[in-house]
Amino acid sequence: MQKIIVTGGLGYIGSHTVVELINKGYQVIIIDNLVNSSIETLDGIETITGVRPEFHQLDMINSEKLNALFENHNDTESIIHFAALKAVGESCSNPIAYYQNNLGALLNLIQAMNDNDISKLVFSSSATVYGDPDSLPLTEEHQTKPALSPYGNTKKIGEDIIKDTTTAMAGFHAISLRYFNPIGAHSSVQIGELPNGIPNNLMPFITQTAAGLRKELLVYGNDYNTPDGTAIRDYIHVVDLAAAHVKTVERLIYNEQKSNFEIFNLGTGKGSSVLEVIHSFEKTSGQKLPYRFVDRRKGDVEQMYASTDLANNELGWKAKLNLDDMTASSWAWEKHARNL
Ligand code: NAD
Ligand code: WQD
Repeated sequence: MQKIIVTGGLGYIGSHTVVELINKGYQVIIIDNLVNSSIETLDGIETITGVRPEFHQLDMINSEKLNALFENHNDTESIIHFAALKAVGESCSNPIAYYQNNLGALLNLIQAMNDNDISKLVFSSSATVYGDPDSLPLTEEHQTKPALSPYGNTKKIGEDIIKDTTTAMAGFHAISLRYFNPIGAHSSVQIGELPNGIPNNLMPFITQTAAGLRKELLVYGNDYNTPDGTAIRDYIHVVDLAAAHVKTVERLIYNEQKSNFEIFNLGTGKGSSVLEVIHSFEKTSGQKLPYRFVDRRKGDVEQMYASTDLANNELGWKAKLNLDDMTASSWAWEKHARNL
């Protein structure tokens, strides 16, 4: 069995990816410090797959412990590195915590990989590195722009660190995946996204409002230059995103890369407005959502969606699930998690 280490593997995207890897016959080792996840997710993974993967509760900032773990697993084929802090607003109020955690963990990871002759890395990047786009759809050729938040900057700098490593070391291979807006949950309702506190992102705010935890959704801006005035994003089902990680890791394992540092956008290629997401949610849940228009949110871009040609052609991957699948599964998960 080929072994893959998944950092942040009990988080939202990580846990869905672990399920897809196990279903494809990989042996998965999970590292997570549970700063934004819970141990029950391991039960969910076991219920879905019938396999309880090896789990290490470990803070990647601890380089000694990380290195010791890698020594025990130096037959690992590839790492998928999800572990990071990801709240944009929090990163603006506490930038040092974000640089320390996200870049510290990445540097320790690369060091531990080098020390143990593990040379293949998949990195969770973000479409946020494109900033406010000059043209759409966004291809991987678009220039990145100065980050709009310290969080976004950790993704930009993270990519630079990895790129420099691949330049310096011909044997080091990496693929950076720029996710657009992941939403949705596994159809089993055993795993999904359950943010602590008030959600920053649209989908969990919608489901928490429908669940009665929040009074109403505030829609940030209805005066954008879009067909209905609300902002447009490329929402992608987390299960499709997880499947893309299996394809990516296989590109590394089977030496199919065209260069030792590659970048792929992961989106559907289709933009949806905030109102379209709300209407899809109302349709699939059969429930009216209380919402109100307010001013634009600072730092938000008007619209962005991916060109998916490169991922389609090179990874042989295409998103299959649509917006209704995303809103329906998000709601099914929220209801299950809250015993509604
Ligand atoms: P998440 O918070 O659910 O998962 C991240 C996991 O990493 C958590 O389980 C957390 O406990 C763990 N972690 C954080 N710091 C750690 C450390 N120092 N040591 C060990 N574990 C640590 O987030 P997610 O939505 O699953 O995101 C996964 C990755 O994808 C992140 O790198 C994120 O920045 C990136 N990303 C997410 C989105 C999104 O909208 N969800 C979009 C683009 C990129
Ligand atoms: C989507 C749309 C909001 C909440 C963020 C990060 C990005 C990436 C994904 C990690 C926007 C609107 C939202 C609400 C609203 N994460 N909205 N009311 O801003 O595209 O991206 O998550 O890498 O880096 O910046 O996602 O879900 O916050 O917002 O009207 O209560 O929904 O204005 O148009 P965003 P989002």
